Amino acid sequence: MKVILFGATGMVGQGCLRECLLDSGVESVLAVGRSATGQRHAKLCEILHDDFLDYSAIESELEGFDACFFCLGVSSLGISEERYRHLTYDLTMAAAKTLSRRNPNMVFIYVTGAGTDSTERGRSMWARIKGKTENDLLKLPFKAAYMFRPAGIQPLHGIRSRTAWVQALYVAAAPLLALLGRVAPKYMTTTEQVGRAMIRVARDGYPKPVLESEDINRV
Ligand SMILES: NC(=O)c1ccc[n+]([C@@H]2O[C@H](COP(=O)([O-])OP(=O)(O)OC[C@H]3O[C@@H](n4cnc5c(N)ncnc54)[C@H](OP(=O)(O)O)[C@@H]3O)[C@@H](O)[C@H]2O)c1
Repeated sequence: MKVILFGATGMVGQGCLRECLLDSGVESVLAVGRSATGQRHAKLCEILHDDFLDYSAIESELEGFDACFFCLGVSSLGISEERYRHLTYDLTMAAAKTLSRRNPNMVFIYVTGAGTDSTERGRSMWARIKGKTENDLLKLPFKAAYMFRPAGIQPLHGIRSRTAWVQALYVAAAPLLALLGRVAPKYMTTTEQVGRAMIRVARDGYPKPVLESEDINRV
């Protein structure tokens, strides 16, 4: 499987990259990001890109992939609805439209979050925007698209969030999260489980397009 990965420097993306590099079924990984991962591996190539609305300069390099794991995303905390929509909906759709045009056999996996609002009409701003993003991704002509909706994610193997307050929260709550993961797997997963589930779902499919934490842990 040839994989293209967005958000490889983030918490979820680092976990996904780790599992891809370890999995013998993944032949290569192309990480597309605005900053380098700092990792070197025979299977890993990187493209540093600065305009996430326009891929025309690198489009020919984005062809021939079996799967895209889209882990690029931001928290809605402290940013306006307009900015959050831009960073969530616009950036994701720009990449997905380019990839679906160039890779009709691609499986696209998008990381959203628990509580995403598929009706697009609820009261929560972030949930509506993630809901619209999911709904519109599912309409693109990919071979298949899956929406991963984790709740809490425990970072393992030294993985860190790029978002300072999220990282501080995870460090402070680490013992509680580990316990929660054991007693309430519905609400917790790990960076390892998310990464492994992405690879398995891309390879084998899943009976439904939206996977909640429980599904991610079960795959
Ligand atoms: N962490 C959680 O517990 C959790 C739980 C549920 C769902 N999620 C979802 O998972 C997704 C990833 O979250 P995360 O925790 O991995 O976030 P993170 O650690 O903050 O990483 C965010 C990633 O997105 C990239 N990015 C952010 N803004 C960008 C921009 N304007 N242009 C290009 N790249 C940009 C970052 O690149 P740079 O390194 O260049 O900044 C980084 O690779 C998000 O959609 C989030 O809602 C996370």
